Amino acid sequence: MKLFIDTANLTEIREAASWGILDGCTTNPSLIAREGRDFAEAIWEICEIVQGPVSAEVVAQDAEGMLREAALLKQIHEHVVIKIPMCHEGLKATRALADEGTPVNVTLIFSVNQALLAAKAGAAYVSPFVGRIDDTGNDGMGVLADIINVFDHYYFDTEVLAASIRHTAHMLDAQRLGSHVATLPFKVLKQMVHHPLTDKGNAAFLADWATVPGDGLESTVSAFLQRPRG
Ligand code: G3P
Repeated sequence: MKLFIDTANLTEIREAASWGILDGCTTNPSLIAREGRDFAEAIWEICEIVQGPVSAEVVAQDAEGMLREAALLKQIHEHVVIKIPMCHEGLKATRALADEGTPVNVTLIFSVNQALLAAKAGAAYVSPFVGRIDDTGNDGMGVLADIINVFDHYYFDTEVLAASIRHTAHMLDAQRLGSHVATLPFKVLKQMVHHPLTDKGNAAFLADWATVPGDGLESTVSAFLQRPRG
C-alpha cells in the first residue's frame, strides 16, 4: 500500500518523510488555506521533500479553466499530480489531461458510479472520502470496498486512493480491502506507530539493560572489538 500524507504542513511532511515510509502527499484548497502561505511555493517545497506524487487541486469550475490551471501547476514540479473535483467539467478536463499523459487525481468521490466515470475518463487516482461518507450516516468503507471490487472486475489501471481517513481503524480496513493508496493526516500516521505493549516492552528492556555490567552498549562493544578474541 502506498502511504500519502494529507496535509500542506511542511513540518509534518518533513517528519513523516524522515521515517522512510512516505510515498506521496495530497493537498486541497482547505489544507493550503490552513498554512497561510504562498500556494505555488508550498507545493514546490512539498514536492522537494516528498520526492513522490503531490496532488495540487485546481479551483476553476469549467474544463477550459481547469486545463489552464493544470498547465501552470505542472510547471511547478515534475511530481505534481493534478487534482480535479468530480463533475461534468472535471471529467472533460481529466480525459484531456490523461490523453496528454498528465496524471489526475479525481477528488470528492462519494459513490461507486462516480469512481467508475473518473476511471473511464483516465484518472490515475480516484479519491473516495470515507470519513465524510461516514459523517452522513453511510458506510464509507463499504463504498471503498465496492470501488476496489469494481476496478478489479474491469481491470482499470486507476488506483484507489482512500481519503478523508480519520482514525487508525479506517487505516486497518483500507489495508484489509487492498486499497492501492491511503492518504492520512499526520495525527493518524503518528497513532499508527504506537502500541501500549511496545512502549511497555521497551521500558522493561531498558530497565533490565540497566543491570547489565559495563559502561553502556557503545563502550562495551567498542572495548570488545579492540581486544584480541579467542
Ligand atoms: O483527502 C481528503 C481529505 O483532506 C478530506 O478529509 O477529514 O476533511 O474529510 P476530511
